[in-house]
Amino acid sequence: AETHYHEFIVQRKPVKRLCKVHNIITVNGQFPGPTLEVRNGDSLVIKVVNAVRYNVSLHWHGIKQLRNPWADGPEFVTQCSIKPGGSYTYRFTIEDQEGTLWWHAHSRWLRATVYGALIIYPKMGSYYPFLMPKREASVLLGEWFDRDPMSVLRQALFSGAAPNVSDAYTINGQPGDFYRCSKKETVRFGVNSGETILLRIVNSGLNQELFFSVANHPLTVVAVDASYTKPFKTNVIMIGPGQTTDVLLTANQPPAHYYMAATAYNTAMNAAFDNTTTTAILQYNNNYQQQQKPILAQLPFFNDTPTSTRFTSQLRSLNRANVPTQIDESLLFTVGLGLINCTNPNSPRCQGPNGTRFAASINNNSFVFPKSNSIMQAFYQGIPGVFTTDFPPVPPLQFDYTGNVSRGLWQPGRGTKTFRLRYGSSVQIVLQDTSIVTTEDHPMHLHGYHFYVVGSGFGNFNSATDPARFNLVDPPLRNTIGTPPGGWVAIRFVADNPGAWLMHCHIDSHLAWGLAMVFLVENGEGEMQSVLPPPPDLPPC
Ligand code: C2O
Repeated sequence: AETHYHEFIVQRKPVKRLCKVHNIITVNGQFPGPTLEVRNGDSLVIKVVNAVRYNVSLHWHGIKQLRNPWADGPEFVTQCSIKPGGSYTYRFTIEDQEGTLWWHAHSRWLRATVYGALIIYPKMGSYYPFLMPKREASVLLGEWFDRDPMSVLRQALFSGAAPNVSDAYTINGQPGDFYRCSKKETVRFGVNSGETILLRIVNSGLNQELFFSVANHPLTVVAVDASYTKPFKTNVIMIGPGQTTDVLLTANQPPAHYYMAATAYNTAMNAAFDNTTTTAILQYNNNYQQQQKPILAQLPFFNDTPTSTRFTSQLRSLNRANVPTQIDESLLFTVGLGLINCTNPNSPRCQGPNGTRFAASINNNSFVFPKSNSIMQAFYQGIPGVFTTDFPPVPPLQFDYTGNVSRGLWQPGRGTKTFRLRYGSSVQIVLQDTSIVTTEDHPMHLHGYHFYVVGSGFGNFNSATDPARFNLVDPPLRNTIGTPPGGWVAIRFVADNPGAWLMHCHIDSHLAWGLAMVFLVENGEGEMQSVLPPPPDLPPC
């Protein structure tokens, strides 16, 4: 195994998109940021230098960070932020993971422009479980705001209203042919006739789940979230923020230019969303006359839940899975939006529906990030006053998840509330969309783990009948899973990684409104001695 050293300088860089120059925050002046390439078993040492005026931290999305929470990155959860002028070196080892992951800023909305791919190849001498593709390419789907993303966040937090939607989607940082001043920069992926190309698709966008397809070329799905799947063919994939999907595409069509395209999958009722379409071009390299414009890709309608469900329900892990069957801790978590009543509905801070402010919650608790210290440091060193351990149980059953709820239950409580999990216990969590305010798909991400997705459905979870239909044989292993709009999803994992681990909706507007919680996993004796000690350069608060 090798150790790879990198220096990531967080710095401003002017880039021109949609006819306008923006001085965006980047890593090393690159947008998207540098691609990290390693093999399973390798180690990474990444010195992050903060050369901007914002606090930052970086997160290696999907890396388990076994007994090494200090390298995980979410600010105020496993570390305090890297201050302007400061630096922090993330050191971690890839343990038993292969495929496509990514990294991104984990500090307010900086990840809008601070992200990149993290590709894990098989160990020396071992191979993909599919025929070696001739080519590989990363396809990073993003969202572009024609203004400073931090001002969009401030606007949403200050006004209590929904944030401004993005102005473009992007593929590898470029909006593509259908946007103003963008055509010259459209990303092109070259292929020779007959070749197979592996596309490593990442949804690094802030707030939108996306449909993706390629004109006239079916895609064979072979992995999600750095975990191999039983291959299956599809014309379209649905991918939520935080998720990755690896697909094989064979260039077996007449030589031409074909669009790859992505657009929103959005089920939120009455909500404004970015309904534009980003494109890149799959371009055959052969000698031929390109006669017409690139061939258009077919995408579903924005609210096509059946297509989304058909796609996700086909995912199966490649091998027989090691799913926990005896459950020690069975949790039901409601996830969804809420509204906070304002005493003065005319206040500029109360521009939500009917003079309210938007909030979001798990089990009706809207998560508040601490300020004085990180939860992990407080947990490790026993510092009081940073978090509480009274994470609430699921709200009582008069809480009707169909959205038919009395106004009083719309209002979440607030707090830095954590839930203790016994180290080594087998955990099942059913995530139930509350459907309050609107039914919406919430892509939920758990740090420090991946989990089996054993079942999902629409309506309310029924603990008497639904578990009988769980897939305990070959469910997909993921780190981010959509809670279906107006439905539920069940996940299982063994709590074998001690530390403080954030779970949250990967839609950043929902995260900003509090759709998050933290698990504290202890090693049995109520102590943390099996966790690596905090590195000496861990940034202080
Ligand atoms: Cu991809 Cu908590 O993040």
